[in-house]
Amino acid sequence: MSVLGEQVAAALEFPPGFLWGASTAAFQIEGATRQDGRTDSIWDAFSRRPGAVAGGDTGEPAADHYHRYRDDVALMRALGFGAYRFSIAWSRVRPDGGEVNPKGLDFYDRLTDELLANGITPWATLYHFDLPQALEEAGGWANRDTAFRFAEFAATTVARLGDRIPFWSTLNEPWCSAFLGYAAGIHAPGRREPEAAAAAAHHLLLAHGLAMPELRRHAPAARLGITLNLYPVQGEDQEAVRKIDGLQNRLFLDPVLLGRYPEDLLADLEPFGFPVRDGDLAAIGTPIDQLGINYYRGYEVTRDPALGEAAGPEWIGAREVRFIPDPHAPLTESGWQVEPDKLTDTLLRVHREYPHIPLYVTENGAAYPDHVGPDGEIADDDRIGFLDSHLRAAHAAVAQGVDLRGFFYWSLLDNFEWAEGYAKRFGLVHVDYATQERTPKRSAAWYANVIAANGLR
Ligand code: NOJ
Repeated sequence: MSVLGEQVAAALEFPPGFLWGASTAAFQIEGATRQDGRTDSIWDAFSRRPGAVAGGDTGEPAADHYHRYRDDVALMRALGFGAYRFSIAWSRVRPDGGEVNPKGLDFYDRLTDELLANGITPWATLYHFDLPQALEEAGGWANRDTAFRFAEFAATTVARLGDRIPFWSTLNEPWCSAFLGYAAGIHAPGRREPEAAAAAAHHLLLAHGLAMPELRRHAPAARLGITLNLYPVQGEDQEAVRKIDGLQNRLFLDPVLLGRYPEDLLADLEPFGFPVRDGDLAAIGTPIDQLGINYYRGYEVTRDPALGEAAGPEWIGAREVRFIPDPHAPLTESGWQVEPDKLTDTLLRVHREYPHIPLYVTENGAAYPDHVGPDGEIADDDRIGFLDSHLRAAHAAVAQGVDLRGFFYWSLLDNFEWAEGYAKRFGLVHVDYATQERTPKRSAAWYANVIAANGLR
């Protein structure tokens, strides 16, 4: 029932206390890459390589969030956000992976306090693709020692901020760090070495496991976890499905949530020298309190040995696999198929196969070719449609019993979309990179209504 002037109840309501917000990452929005003691990350170095990033774009100026975080928090407050997920730049906190830089920590301290003062729950991710370049020069994630350096960085950060940040994620999308960074070479550090990618995948997971006790010690009441990019994989060829689902999903879910690597993947990765040592899985399987899921799309696959490298070098050991596009699916500007139903499938699958772990959609969103109208409005109805369909899909999972506790749109602001540079805009808020002016898009107002109603009308 609704009465004029009162809030209209949501037709599709989310559970009480559902956490609503958006996500960002340090390198993609902060800018100020040389300020207050920060040194290069792998993305600073990689983006300077000719041809590595579209348009020759780099981490400057990004959205200059380092200086404008107060304005950005004010925007979030105006949109009614309950929470905000951001990442912490290792190269600010421990430049070159070495000594602690208090000025770097001060920035995240100010940001945290600003969020809290505005009633917004901070959610910190410790690693979002930006390894200190000096550690890459010592071997990067292919070097086991990097996992121990990460645990030190995690301890430093949580010792300072753990009293005020109630949600922590160790890593964001380790699949991308390992396989796009070290096998495909399209992400930093730009290496095309399948053995290094296999080692990187394990060492990233080890880093997560080694950081967990540090986080627990300094923030005993916080909800700790990891964020994975899970992509449902379908197809008639069961071997193709097994391999791609294995590399994308089970390689990360099983060790973190079950404390073991799947046997079939250990066999697949053996030729690449997967460097697991005694005790590693006990660390990686340390219990977590929440799992973050980034969902963008699914994959349909088949197998054809004649195809050689068709699957792309990131699918180490599965190169005869072919990805089959759906000619009817609508596409985002990134060329990704819009497949909201597969978000429901993903949530149900994790709920079924890895029960009892509270889930959060820590990223879901889309790039579209936004136009600033003559009246200054950005009428991004395609993004509203994307968001509406994915929220309905998330709700369908909740209705089937999934313990989903929050949703974070990717992203708050237009930002540096890695190898795609600034051309791809995912924000709820438009950024004019020349003036740094922020303009909330129509989708921002639409999302604010969803948040106010705790659901869809
Ligand atoms: C996932 C990543 O975490 C984020 O950094 C990226 O910008 C979005 N996907 C969109 O590609």
